[in-house]
Amino acid sequence: MVEGVLRKYGQFLPVSSSTPMITLGEGDTPLVKSTRLGNELGCDELYFKLEGCNPTGSFKDRGMVVAVAKALEAGSKAIMCASTGNTSASAAAYGGRFNISTIVLVPKGEIASGKLAQAMAYGAKILAVNGSFDHALSLVRTFTNNHPITLVNSVNPNRIEGQKTAGFEIVDSLGDAPDYVFIPVGNAGNITAYTKGFVEYHALGFSSKTPKMMGFQAEGAAPIVLGHPVSNPKTVASAIRIGNPASWESALAARDQSGGVIDTVSDEQILAAYSLLASREGIFCEPASAAAFAGLVKLRQLGLGLANQRVVCIITGTGLKDPDLAARSVQSEIIEIEPDIREVEAALMTPTKHSRREDG
Ligand code: F0G
Repeated sequence: MVEGVLRKYGQFLPVSSSTPMITLGEGDTPLVKSTRLGNELGCDELYFKLEGCNPTGSFKDRGMVVAVAKALEAGSKAIMCASTGNTSASAAAYGGRFNISTIVLVPKGEIASGKLAQAMAYGAKILAVNGSFDHALSLVRTFTNNHPITLVNSVNPNRIEGQKTAGFEIVDSLGDAPDYVFIPVGNAGNITAYTKGFVEYHALGFSSKTPKMMGFQAEGAAPIVLGHPVSNPKTVASAIRIGNPASWESALAARDQSGGVIDTVSDEQILAAYSLLASREGIFCEPASAAAFAGLVKLRQLGLGLANQRVVCIITGTGLKDPDLAARSVQSEIIEIEPDIREVEAALMTPTKHSRREDG
């Protein structure tokens, strides 16, 4: 039986005797040691935290379970969020399971098809906003201010509380905090949450140090790096296509207090990392998730020393959410044959004659 985040880490969460201890099996995700890419980068201990193994396929479930439990405890009638796709999928799943109406606002035409399919299947009310995530979040903030509906974006502190448990798990698995954590940054809730988790665990004596937080935004959606909001954010990584992050200040604090960085990676670097993670490590993740590993590759190339360093890359979501992107971006050969063993032989002996490159 999976305990779930509320039971496993309840003592560190805002849980009272009247909080419903709900779960959909979130948390307890694998921390997998790199077999190939770490060696190539000169990093003896590189780990991937597979947050795509959460019940709705992203890290959002850790925070959502706490936010929804607190909404139920407060007698809220509905939950609402803006989303680039994963938050809405997660909210809709918990809303469906625990019988609370869910309203999601997503930027129209900008979210991966798998994420939209999830929100639809779980039964959320979906509003597609003709604008960006930032527009959607602003609408949700105003609406929830005027109506008795719980906002479940990461500006809700219960979301951060739940998400910090991923930091606890990393320390529990490794026996100490790592030296570096590489993480994608969009609305900046997750980097805030990990930092909170590492700092709290350290204060309680569970680790000897806290890691340097290394956050990465996509080049075309890098407000924190640029130092100003981006009105029309653009990147292939739709999950982090955000121009005015809600947790901007706490992301800067996370960077500065940990001695880390917040930097950019290009779409090209993101897609290269996306393909390397899948083909060399068996990790099929979202492009946004690949931004973390792309950042590691970038800083390594710029001379970051990784010998004797323990590094964790947070793989925030599964690549299955966006299958079209894989088909479009990954170089892969599909050979079409008739159901005839001679064609199998021929194709495998002389692949070029029978092959054609799929361009999606
Ligand atoms: N990776 C994935 C797969 C995401 O879905 C997100 C954010 C991030 C990274 C960035 O995390 O926002 O806490 O800095 N997705 C949000 C959403 C915005 O609506 O699903 P962050």
